[in-house]
Amino acid sequence: MILIDGKKTASDIRQEIAQQVMTMTENGQRPPCLAAILVGHDGGSETYVANKVKACSECGFTSRLIRYEDDITQDQLLETIAELNKDPEVDGFIVQLPLPPHIDEQTIIEAIDPSKDVDGFHPVNVGRMSIGLPCFISATPAGILDLLERYNIDTKGKNCVILGRSNIVGKPMASLMMQKAYPGNATVTVCHSASQNIKEITRRADIIIAAMGRPASVTADMVKDGAVIIDVGTTRVPDASRKSGFRLSGDVDFENVAPKCSFITPVPGGVGPMTITRLMKNTLQAAQLHLNR
Ligand code: GUN
Repeated sequence: MILIDGKKTASDIRQEIAQQVMTMTENGQRPPCLAAILVGHDGGSETYVANKVKACSECGFTSRLIRYEDDITQDQLLETIAELNKDPEVDGFIVQLPLPPHIDEQTIIEAIDPSKDVDGFHPVNVGRMSIGLPCFISATPAGILDLLERYNIDTKGKNCVILGRSNIVGKPMASLMMQKAYPGNATVTVCHSASQNIKEITRRADIIIAAMGRPASVTADMVKDGAVIIDVGTTRVPDASRKSGFRLSGDVDFENVAPKCSFITPVPGGVGPMTITRLMKNTLQAAQLHLNR
């Protein structure tokens, strides 16, 4: 069994990005700039955004963190987005999700200029991705492709089962894994909350990508020997032995599943660091796009 080291891979890619930024600045260009909007004080979102800002400095980017309390109105948020859309100093920006219930997430996503949508959530980017055109690919599925590639994992013609159909992970992942490209070119099945006989389906899988957000729910009896397991789950579960009072749990029962696999990602240290790194790659791509206009 090979443990896929997302932390090390992410760090290698961040160094490669930092090198490219050095070349840009040596050529008299400004470094890429990512802005992040954070609404409210959700613990998970606070951590993610702090890690995104930290990753920017590791890559030599500048960053802006724009914070609002959770009573901000949708119109105020739309105004900030309109300003960022036209700010020439900002190459890309993200609005950290989830948003408070009085704000419509889809309206917010569609207000972002697709050329600055480094999360790849805007329907223009989602549509372009699904037909294989150049675009921003959302960070988690793109980070998973990077891992499959860096570990030379064969995907062509393989049975790939994706658990979960979210707009952020399951749906784009399915689209990417079926494209005629490497990584991809797989036979893809998507299972979701209404699927029946999930175990029969996963037992035929060469690659399982678990993204349903249910801790430890992929058990050893669901996995065939030699399968590749990518665990996207990051649920906070109470743990009194930790200072924080919680630990992160993946969607896979790692202890019992790992011995059966050819490759597996741990949680934490697997997909998570890759997601943020891919956001950095997308921001670099946005900066190159804006500079070449
Ligand atoms: N919330 C959970 N994952 C993400 C992400 O990748 N981007 C944003 N903007 N919000 C998230």
